Amino acid sequence: MKTVTIAEAKHLLEKGDVVAIPTETVYGLAGWIFSEEGLKKIFSTKERPFFDPLIVHVDTIEKAKALSSEWTPVHEALAEVCWPGPLTLIAKKHEKINSLITSGLDSVGLRCPRHPETLALLAHIEGGLAAPSANKFGKTSPTTSQHVFEEFAESVAILEGGQSDIGIESTVAGVEKTASGWKVLIYRPGFYTAQKLAEILNAKKIEAEVTYAESPVAPGQLKHHYMPNIPLIILPEQYEWSELQEKIETKLGQKCHSPAFWKLPDDAHLASRELYQNLREFSSHGHDLILISRSAQQLESEDWKGIWNRLSKAKTFEMADDFSWME
Ligand code: TXA
Ligand code: MG
Repeated sequence: MKTVTIAEAKHLLEKGDVVAIPTETVYGLAGWIFSEEGLKKIFSTKERPFFDPLIVHVDTIEKAKALSSEWTPVHEALAEVCWPGPLTLIAKKHEKINSLITSGLDSVGLRCPRHPETLALLAHIEGGLAAPSANKFGKTSPTTSQHVFEEFAESVAILEGGQSDIGIESTVAGVEKTASGWKVLIYRPGFYTAQKLAEILNAKKIEAEVTYAESPVAPGQLKHHYMPNIPLIILPEQYEWSELQEKIETKLGQKCHSPAFWKLPDDAHLASRELYQNLREFSSHGHDLILISRSAQQLESEDWKGIWNRLSKAKTFEMADDFSWME
């Protein structure tokens, strides 16, 4: 594994290379925002399409402000309370932001990650670092340096930072002005729920409605994402494997010799920390199929929204309660 110090990481980034950086959510594949070569290298290394915009990471609110052309009181309030932490704020972009980062949109995603090594690196970087999750496009995100190494081998230098604490990607939120106040739209659910963001704004006496919304980015094109190397099937809450095995094998077009029956832990934060690690381990431990049951109780809980969002994109197929296949 090619690990680097903060000084070496800075040097590589400034000369247009990419470096994997630890964050509290997942590891990122970073490029310097003022190096077009570095930005292009993020897309080529990940095999990522250019229509999917990148998040810019900064170590201070001041730097975030300088990269946007419209930083509202809502941005300021949420950043003050949630940063450093797992919240990405979408803001109107400053003209100095390269359109490779934003896929041509007039907005940019900004986030201050809560990880000491990466914060120390960012403190030495002018502007910030663009960083998507450090995995091949559409695949499971990495939560340890070992996962990054399994993905890119020696071709990507890594700033070591231990296991990611949160385990799933940041909440992504946009801000709109309305006649009566503000609207905060959550495009990707995560650790920060709508209820939590509403409480924060309420405590700051800012009138805002916080809701979940369809992302403005390439709708529909990102239906499958975070996918493990073996099929993942979501099943009804109650089922008998012996009764379903044949139906599942027919749907997959293959025999299943060693299914992993995955029971999520009861605590949502623990479940999110282990989520991607488990998705990877089931296949490396010789399983050929992952089975997971829907939980009505979890699906109703906001704390589980981020986890079920990732699972429903990582799945190969899902079976309805009447045992028919869902689309
Ligand atoms: O936790 C995270 O956010 C991690 C770590 C590395 O910071 N990064 C991450 O990046 O998950 P990525 O590229 O895998 O996901 C970025 C998400 C995408 O869903 C993208 O569509 C959305 O952010 N996004 C970026 N810029 C946007 C914009 N201007 N408007 C709307 N969505 C945007
Ligand atoms: Mg990703």
